[in-house]
Amino acid sequence: MDPLVRFGVAVPASLLAEFDLYIQGKGLQNRSEALRQLIREKLSREIWSRGEGAVFGTVTIMYDHHVKDASSSLTSLQHDFVESIICTTHVHVDHDHCLECIVLKGNGRTIKEFTDALSAVRGIKTIDLSISSIL
Ligand code: NI
Repeated sequence: MDPLVRFGVAVPASLLAEFDLYIQGKGLQNRSEALRQLIREKLSREIWSRGEGAVFGTVTIMYDHHVKDASSSLTSLQHDFVESIICTTHVHVDHDHCLECIVLKGNGRTIKEFTDALSAVRGIKTIDLSISSIL
C-alpha cells in the first residue's frame, strides 16, 4: 500500500462549508477520504480523455429494440470491440425498451471509439459512461 502523505490545502471558507455538506450527504468518513475519491475520479477521467493508460468503465445504454437494426447493430459493434469488452448485461425494461450495461477495460482511446460508435446506432436513447482506474 502506498504511504499516505499529508499536505495543506487552502480553500475559501464557503467552499469548505459546501464540501463538508457534500461529505455529510455522501456519508463519507472524513475530508481526506472525500478528497481522495474526488482526485481519483478526476484523474481517471483525465487518463481516459488523453487516451493513454488502461481504464475500466461501464457504459449503460437505453434503447428501443423496435427501431430497425438497433439490436443487431449493437451486437455487431460489441463484436468489433470484443478485446475491450469484459461482459454485457441485458435487461428487458418494458415492451419497447432494453437496457444494456457493458463493462469495458482498455485504453481510453479505444473506449472513446466504442462510445462514439454507440452514439451513431439508431434507437439508442441514452448513453451513460462511467470511468474508473486503479489510481
Ligand atoms: Ni431486451
